[in-house]
Amino acid sequence: MKDKHLVELLKEMTLAEKVGQLVQLTPDFFAQGGEITGPMQQWQMSEAQSYQIGSVLGTHTAEQVYTIQKQYLEKSRLKIPLVFMADVIHGYETIFPIPLAMAASFDEHLIEKAAKLAAKEAAEAGIHVTFSPMADYVKDARWGRVLESNGEDPTLSSVLTAAYVRGYQGATNNLNKDKKRIAACVKHFVGYGAAEGGRDYNTVDLSDLEIYQNYLPAFKAAIDAGAALVMTSFNTVRGIPATANQPLIQDVLRKKLGFEGLVISDWAAVAELIAHRVAADGEEAAKKAFHAGIEMDMMSDCYMNSLAQIITAAPELQQQLDQAVYHVLKLKDRLGLFDDPYRGLNEADLSVHLDTDTRLSTREAAEKTAVLLKNEDILPLSKNQKIALIGPKADSKDIFGAWSWIGKQEDAVSLKEGLSEKHLDLSVLSYAEEEVLSDHYIEEACKLAEQSDVVLLAVGESSEESGEAASLTKLTLSRRQDVLVQEIAKHNPNVVLILFNGRPLVLSDIEESCKAILIGWFPGSEGGHALANLLTGTVEPQGRLPMSFPRSVGQLPLTYGQLSTGRPKTPDNQDQKYISRYMDEENDALYPFGFGLGYGSCEIEQTTITHISEEEGLYEVNARLINHTEKAHRTLLQLYSQDLVTEVARPIRELKQWRKVLVPAKSSIDITFNISETQFAYVHSDLLLKNDPGKIALYIGFDSKQADKIGEIAI
Ligand code: NOJ
Repeated sequence: MKDKHLVELLKEMTLAEKVGQLVQLTPDFFAQGGEITGPMQQWQMSEAQSYQIGSVLGTHTAEQVYTIQKQYLEKSRLKIPLVFMADVIHGYETIFPIPLAMAASFDEHLIEKAAKLAAKEAAEAGIHVTFSPMADYVKDARWGRVLESNGEDPTLSSVLTAAYVRGYQGATNNLNKDKKRIAACVKHFVGYGAAEGGRDYNTVDLSDLEIYQNYLPAFKAAIDAGAALVMTSFNTVRGIPATANQPLIQDVLRKKLGFEGLVISDWAAVAELIAHRVAADGEEAAKKAFHAGIEMDMMSDCYMNSLAQIITAAPELQQQLDQAVYHVLKLKDRLGLFDDPYRGLNEADLSVHLDTDTRLSTREAAEKTAVLLKNEDILPLSKNQKIALIGPKADSKDIFGAWSWIGKQEDAVSLKEGLSEKHLDLSVLSYAEEEVLSDHYIEEACKLAEQSDVVLLAVGESSEESGEAASLTKLTLSRRQDVLVQEIAKHNPNVVLILFNGRPLVLSDIEESCKAILIGWFPGSEGGHALANLLTGTVEPQGRLPMSFPRSVGQLPLTYGQLSTGRPKTPDNQDQKYISRYMDEENDALYPFGFGLGYGSCEIEQTTITHISEEEGLYEVNARLINHTEKAHRTLLQLYSQDLVTEVARPIRELKQWRKVLVPAKSSIDITFNISETQFAYVHSDLLLKNDPGKIALYIGFDSKQADKIGEIAI
């Protein structure tokens, strides 16, 4: 049912005004108060055109939004407010850990809360829509954008993607009333994470089965949670760029997933159809993208300069045009912009109010997302040790990651700053970021290591090294940081590696040199405090890997959920040649999906599976967790399944449910997973999600590799 007032408004619009609504530009097009500036000249844009466009992306301040909106409303004929969009990916000014880190929490509530707090700051800066969450399925760490993902498991990613949408938009989706929430644009539809060779923007070629099974679920979850927009991806799907892919947008996104909101292209992707060589010029690019179902053209001049003439030449497209414009108007209406174009901005106070709670929430998030990969009785640190803090990340404020364009680095707490509040006997030897480590520094570092009991080695990536357009063929530590680790270990065996990273790295050559490895990711504003709390044991590490850490780049793409092959490698055939294995490397990850340690331990005992309702296909899986130690321990219990015989080849293991549990010292806790047969449905060769009768093996454990089989059910 279409809203009457919007339909009425649509009737009043000229063709040029309709086309204008479908154009999104950056604020520099408005920099001179509507005068023809550099970018406008380049696109041969008139002043009138600038007062017809529908949306602006990437403003930096509320003042900027206020000024642009005011000027626009004064000069535009119909006074349809602009909608302002931006990349608010993991916080706006106060920065949360990167999304891949957030996924390591396996905690949808944490993510919902973070998205809500990010929305508040962004809304105060005048942003109405965020280009988040990124729902891309990933299994190739060479692709720098794994940083923005929820990792390699489609079920986990679906749960977390939906949590982002609820956090941004509010569970009730009451965006016109709740002006501290913003609309979510889920991206990139679809297949972007499968870029060949892990090279950003490269070709993607996926089977339909793979798309349906692994790539669509998180988008479906976001759409079911009410995501207002979908952004298409840069890549090809079945040979056709997603931006020009009609079956993908119309049949899959609209019909199959039931998406009714606004479809926006990625940045300049309409014009890039020319570089893809599927369009000869801007007009053909506009025609193809529009036919396919792209409604808003982000930062290209194709719609602006060609769509009106395309529609005039093909009046049968008028209805589609109206539908697209309607979607833009509907979004603006949903955000309450027709009643309040400034959406709560107050000219007297156009500042973002930073509050301590948000800052503390980023600390909590960083504490819950760091992953302890190794610990040979060295962590937590104790007070009477002489500690050396060494490495380019020791006092670095470059701990936000690639997508924190508003956060101010000077507001970040470095590791050194965090540790210095802990009253330790600490000596620090830091190093300028992004520079190759010199021999001199390595020598000095080794001297300091020799005089210390424990060495904290803070190394990793700079924010430039992961994220968009940060593809890599080598995933070992760069800038001779690997040499530093190996050299230090020769002088002091008590090395604790603290890694700042946006993606899984290859640690095979250095892990033996370290007694402990703590993955801090890009931890955000309070990173130093959070890591200091973790290293000193104020807080127990509880993150678990959302993405496998490979042994070697040659294994990529890699996931714990690989399909069964005809020649699987088993404990009995390790040395045979004609099986699916590498001659020079193991098949599995160095650190698998779901893995992570704490400072305590517990064991799984007494597992049972009960068929509680035959009619409804419900099962109860029980496990008792026993902590024999004197220390409480927080862990993540994971339930996996394997469908024994299936129509199409299926993953060797699939995560079904997970539960964070605090097991008090010297006690036990009973955990129940309620599971229904429908959770074992899978996509068949006809692309339908359905169950088929057969046996399913269930596994319970603390990571995807170590989970033990607890029995089978027959469905
Ligand atoms: C390009 C990126 O692919 C996309 O994720 C982002 O939202 C847009 N640029 C807008 O900045």
